Amino acid sequence: MNLSRLLTQKQPLIGLSPMDGVTDYPFRQIQAQIAKPDILFTEFVSAEGISRGGVKLYDQLLFSPNQRPVVAQLFGKDPDAFFSASQILCHLGFDGIEINMGCPAKTVTNHGSGAALIAKPKLASEIILAVFAGVGEYKKNLSLQSLALPEKIKKVILRNQKFSSFISKKYASPTISVKTRLGLDKPVTEKWISHLLKHPLDFITLHGRTLSQGYAGLASWSEIAKAGKLVSSTRTKLWGNGDLVSRRQALDFCQKYGTSGALIGRAAVGNPWLFANRSATWAEKFSVMLLHTQIYLDTFPLRRFEPLRHHFLSYTLGHPQAKKLRARLVAVNSLPGLLKLEKDFVL
Ligand SMILES: Cc1cc2nc3c(=O)[nH]c(=O)nc-3n(C[C@H](O)[C@H](O)[C@H](O)COP(=O)(O)O)c2cc1C
Repeated sequence: MNLSRLLTQKQPLIGLSPMDGVTDYPFRQIQAQIAKPDILFTEFVSAEGISRGGVKLYDQLLFSPNQRPVVAQLFGKDPDAFFSASQILCHLGFDGIEINMGCPAKTVTNHGSGAALIAKPKLASEIILAVFAGVGEYKKNLSLQSLALPEKIKKVILRNQKFSSFISKKYASPTISVKTRLGLDKPVTEKWISHLLKHPLDFITLHGRTLSQGYAGLASWSEIAKAGKLVSSTRTKLWGNGDLVSRRQALDFCQKYGTSGALIGRAAVGNPWLFANRSATWAEKFSVMLLHTQIYLDTFPLRRFEPLRHHFLSYTLGHPQAKKLRARLVAVNSLPGLLKLEKDFVL
């Protein structure tokens, strides 16, 4: 179903939050197969990067039809790059385009991107308008060839289209959304969200912490509730985010704090069953580790094995022999090597 329609027809929506280094194609594929959230997001990707030649970044934008609705998230600070990047995301067939105004990482905020945009409402508006203009431009002219992009980017766009079974001539109308935080050093929720609401965004996801909090302390859902009240007279939906540990809890919080949806991040890492409100046996976890590895190796045959180990450690959380298993998992570097651990892992 078209995401704009889903937003009006189903509430609340509970999605998987975007996580850099985590929500790549294999992770989303596992999540979609095990317990599909209502919506999935890519890792954030640089608007400047994808529009100016960062061919490798297009790996982060791979998806398959069973992951829909899938939203691509952009970060950056240059409206021109967002204009170009949003046209590219339309050509890739994404159901939505999201602008990151919430990332607290210094590598991102030092450049004026992510949560640093909260301090620059005028620039934030220019970026949002650039995304609307980019989508409008795509609707006027569906030809990939007419885009002023390096040839190597057009080639990689065609590769991604093929991977995602997206037919480029098909008219797409992605949602446009922002993910952000409560403020910089202190919450300025009402002022900041009111500013964002000057634009006809489809939804805003609000993480219940300020930039300076990073991930410390607890997310303030009472601040999120303030934003929930503000959107009630607009077309924009408000989703909450922060510290949720189950789909059931997310649904409760949506009702309690008046939001149309919620995103769950860290709690889903190593635990895709969370979206089905159930826990898994160790045998199931081991099978999923194997499947995750297989999808990763098939999708990225030239990549190093190491990034997978991080996921293995998440799947083993709470295992009675976690310490012993982890010591062995950090040395695994192939699918057969992983298979050898089965008898010790599955109790
Ligand atoms: C490893 C990691 C990477 C993240 N990368 C992104 C990102 O690319 N884009 C984004 O909007 N948020 C990102 N976040 C923030 C999450 O989407 C989410 O807002 C945060 O984890 C709080 O939700 P949670 O308490 O459910 O985990 C990241 C968080 C983590 C832990």
